[in-house]
Amino acid sequence: MSFPSICVFDSAEVAVRELAGEISELIRSRAAQGRMAVLGLATGNTPLPLYQELVRLHRHHGLSFANVVSFNLDEYMGLAREHPQSYWAFMHRHLFDHIDMPESHIHLPSGILPEADIAAHCAEYEARIRDAGGLDFQVLGIGGTGHIGFNEPGSPKDSRTRRVLLDELTRRDASTAFGGIDQVPTQAITMGCGTILEARRIVLLAWGPRKAAIVHTALRGPLTEQVSASFLQEHPNTSFFLDRDAASSLECLPSATPCRSVTTPPRRACVPG
Ligand code: PGA
Repeated sequence: MSFPSICVFDSAEVAVRELAGEISELIRSRAAQGRMAVLGLATGNTPLPLYQELVRLHRHHGLSFANVVSFNLDEYMGLAREHPQSYWAFMHRHLFDHIDMPESHIHLPSGILPEADIAAHCAEYEARIRDAGGLDFQVLGIGGTGHIGFNEPGSPKDSRTRRVLLDELTRRDASTAFGGIDQVPTQAITMGCGTILEARRIVLLAWGPRKAAIVHTALRGPLTEQVSASFLQEHPNTSFFLDRDAASSLECLPSATPCRSVTTPPRRACVPG
C-alpha cells in the first residue's frame, strides 16, 4: 500500500496554486466534454487561500464554474443560512458570490430542519450526490480531533450523511468566531466518512504547527474511528497538501519523488506516505 501521497510545500499559497491548477484542469476538461465537475467543498480557515486562488483564476484567467456542481461537507444545526457563521454564508462570502456558478448547482445541508425531517434530508443529500455522479474531487481540512467534515471521534468508516454532536474541542476551536463557546452550536449535519471516502480524488490541506501532531496521527497512527482522517490511509487517490510546519512531525524520505510538478523550489516532498 503506498497511499496517501504527502506533498510538502513552502507555504499554503504555493500549495493552493498547485491544487487550484488541478481543480481547474478537471473543470476545463469536463467542460470540453460537455460534462459537469462535482466538487466536495470544505469550510474553515484552511481552504480560504484556495478559494481566493479560484476566484483569481475566474477573474483573471477566464476559469468558468458554470459546469461545476458542489456539495459542502457540513452545516451547523440551528443556524439559518443568513447567520454570519453558517457555512452557507461562509461559502457565499468567500467563493460563490465571486464566481459564475449557478445557485442551483450549490448544495449544503440545511441547519434549520424540524426534528422529524432530519433523516429524510440527510438521505436526500446522499441521493443528490449519487445522482450527480458522485464526488469527483473532495477538498478537506482536518480538525483538532482529527475529524474530516464533522466526523468526530466515534464516527464509523461507513457512516453516511447524518446529524452529529460536536466534540468539545471542535466547539472550543470555533468559539472565537462565535464570540464565546456558549454561542457555538452543539450539533451539525455532516457527510459521513463513507460518503467522503467514495470521492474519486481527495486532497486534505493542513497549514501551521498546530496541525503537525494530528496530521502525524492521521497518517502514521492506526486506522481508527477515534481519528476519522486516518481512514484516508486506505483511499487509493488521496494527497495530503501540507506546509512545512504542518509536516514537521513527519519523517521525510530522502529518496522520495515529488507527487506532482514542482512549482516553486525548494520544496520538499515525500512519496509514498
Ligand atoms: P480549520 O478547521 O480549517 O479552521 O483549521 C479545520 C476543520 O475543522 O476541519
